[in-house]
Amino acid sequence: MPIITCIEDLHRIYKRRVPKMFYDYAQSGSWTEQTFRENCKDFEQIRLRQRVAINMEGRSTASQMVGQDVAMPVALAPVGMLGMQHADGEIKAATAARDFGVPFTLSTMSICSIEDVAAATNAPFWFQLYVMRDQDYTDRLIARAKDAGCNAMVLTLDLQILGQRHNDLKNGLSAPPKLTLPVIADLATKWRWGLGMLGTKRRQFGNIVGHAKDVDDVQSLMAWTHKQFDPRLDWDKVKEYRRRWDGKLILKGILDPEDAVKALDVGADAIIVSNHGGRQIDGALSSIRMLAPILDAVGDRIEVHLDSGIRSGQDVLKALAMGATGTMVGRAMVFGLGAMGQDGVTRALEVIHKELDTNMALCGRKSVQDLDRDILLVPKGFSGDWA
Ligand code: GLV
Repeated sequence: MPIITCIEDLHRIYKRRVPKMFYDYAQSGSWTEQTFRENCKDFEQIRLRQRVAINMEGRSTASQMVGQDVAMPVALAPVGMLGMQHADGEIKAATAARDFGVPFTLSTMSICSIEDVAAATNAPFWFQLYVMRDQDYTDRLIARAKDAGCNAMVLTLDLQILGQRHNDLKNGLSAPPKLTLPVIADLATKWRWGLGMLGTKRRQFGNIVGHAKDVDDVQSLMAWTHKQFDPRLDWDKVKEYRRRWDGKLILKGILDPEDAVKALDVGADAIIVSNHGGRQIDGALSSIRMLAPILDAVGDRIEVHLDSGIRSGQDVLKALAMGATGTMVGRAMVFGLGAMGQDGVTRALEVIHKELDTNMALCGRKSVQDLDRDILLVPKGFSGDWA
């Protein structure tokens, strides 16, 4: 096994091992990618205050997210098509998360189905819901998540229509990939990936094929989104989902203080401050910049998790110190998964944990509960003075 010391090591191996189509899918933002870039860049503007001669023995990153004990407040974000990044990717990532003690979130647009993941991991996980026009199908998805023992539902609010990612169109993104000449040429150099795929039967959207009416073949996320995702989703419908789901409800895609207050009003248990990793709206501010105004609006009346832009434990530390109670990582997990399957996801979690723990200690703090703005140097006007 190569020596992995940082997430970027996993990224480099991932790029070599996974077909370009799926690498590009994960690594793209929408349109000009301004929001995608700024999600990461803005973390760099926040600095940590080094403090010394403080006893740093007996540290802990343990915490809770929506009432569940976690080894560190870092959940694996829902990412579509993990099973195309690595054979049985959702099962591999969920197993790594279970063993590490952090939540795994299964995307509606996964390759392994809800039932596949439940059977393989034998442990509760979070289910991410995209609301579809076909109410009956959506209702059954929710019932399936309940039956599988999912202990939280993550309702995504920022993808009723799909932001354009140029590469996905140019690459003809599909699952499984269509074997065009450029794809065959690319796959010839990705033999490890190909062998894995030959060894599994899970190569289609597992929550859809065989479950949605008259659908026995969905290849394209884009085509399916245009046809099926419900653009009419509004706060009244969100209220309805709150009533129907008796487990924890987490609303993902909140990027504005007014929407955060609405999420509070519908009785959500947590919100995820997110711009979908810069994959939906292009031109919005980064999640980390929007965190402070959102916290000002909702205070500690609701759990606030931060998603989009986190690539290190230092980023997690900064988000927690700014006031988030939890965080989510998507791409850092994908890099690990594509590079080395389950071991790669575990390695990504270990890297983030060590970075979080060590830098927390060097800021003079012993537990994630002790973190606050005092350990940060935030440039004046960071969250903006926007009119
Ligand atoms: C969602 O499934 C996405 O592609 O961002």
